[in-house]
Amino acid sequence: MSIHHIPILVENIYYVGVKDPDKRLFDALIPLPQGTTYNSYLVKGSEKTALIDTVCPGFEGELESRINKIHPLEDLDFVVMNHAEPDHAGAIPYVLERCPRARLVVSRMGAKAAKTYFNVPDERLHVVSDGGEISLGDKTLRFIEAPMLHWPETMFTYVPETKTLFPCDFLALHTAYGLYDDQVPEMIPYAKRYFGEIMMPMRIMGKRALAKIIDLDIELIAPSHGPIHRNPERILEAYKSWTNGDTKAKALVVYVSMWGSTERMAKHIAETLEENGVEAPLYNLTHADIGDIARDLVDARGIVFGTPTLLGKMHPLAVYASHLVKILKPPLKYGAVVSSYGWSKGALTHASEVLGPTGLEVVGALEINGPPGAEDYLELTKIGEDLAKKILAG
Ligand code: FEO
Repeated sequence: MSIHHIPILVENIYYVGVKDPDKRLFDALIPLPQGTTYNSYLVKGSEKTALIDTVCPGFEGELESRINKIHPLEDLDFVVMNHAEPDHAGAIPYVLERCPRARLVVSRMGAKAAKTYFNVPDERLHVVSDGGEISLGDKTLRFIEAPMLHWPETMFTYVPETKTLFPCDFLALHTAYGLYDDQVPEMIPYAKRYFGEIMMPMRIMGKRALAKIIDLDIELIAPSHGPIHRNPERILEAYKSWTNGDTKAKALVVYVSMWGSTERMAKHIAETLEENGVEAPLYNLTHADIGDIARDLVDARGIVFGTPTLLGKMHPLAVYASHLVKILKPPLKYGAVVSSYGWSKGALTHASEVLGPTGLEVVGALEINGPPGAEDYLELTKIGEDLAKKILAG
């Protein structure tokens, strides 16, 4: 149901966000094959009206026009900032300037961020604490602190009367297609990709946040990117497993190869893993989508790096991939490294320096000169089998 193309999610709660299907890179890092959305919601109570989160800079006019179809922008009473990152909070100065009565609702840490990022003066701020509430008349905004999901100030907003949760980036996904979760055919893979990129490093905080909302009666989850979950149990079940760090018999094989030798080594290990019952998605780092790698890291138990030696070190693409693995903090347990060099060794030593702090148990490593020969393939088979045994054992 909608009014002038403004979807009504439940009685007097409207979707006033915008779609950005052309966005192709987020945080100058994360590829967005299906673009994204910046979700903003208008909650009209019998006495007061609140806007929950805004949109990315550049979309202020579209947001204003959508709000005005339902309620005059200048008459807003509250603007809730669940999160200060500019893709949701960037339009706050524009909105506050046009509705002089409205107060910006923030967490304690959010107050600091609102001043730093958007120069919001103290008198425009309404600071709430965990469990705090604001009455809109027949609707209540209840605030749930959920720090580090994924910035220090993040919080959720819950409307008990309509059983609606607004968790901002948490439980979100990047796609511009579909209004509701059941309208996005690959909803879970896209949510998993997003989790790997944004939430996996904050897995423990995510687990704590889930524990805080587990007893809430939730019929609708309205996040800040992607579709609205009208089947909330699907995304909640997935997040329970992902924040728990559940893994399966899977090992990513990520490699870069200059003249094909390292590629042959990586592919041989991948085939050995698969022959031994371990799923082994293969990624050539010269053209792999790092979002796909992040998605596969969410529940993988092992990883194999293949890198040639370039000027005595790992190839820069392998350095990039190993750095991503370090900062995304996946629940990996086991690893292996294979390398071919032309005239000087070095990649293996470099890899052990880079991967040492990850706590990965390195099950096997092989560094050879030039293309692999018969003896090398026997060694690679053994590494693959040893890795498979470890992975299958849990
Ligand atoms: Fe979607 Fe952390 O911003």
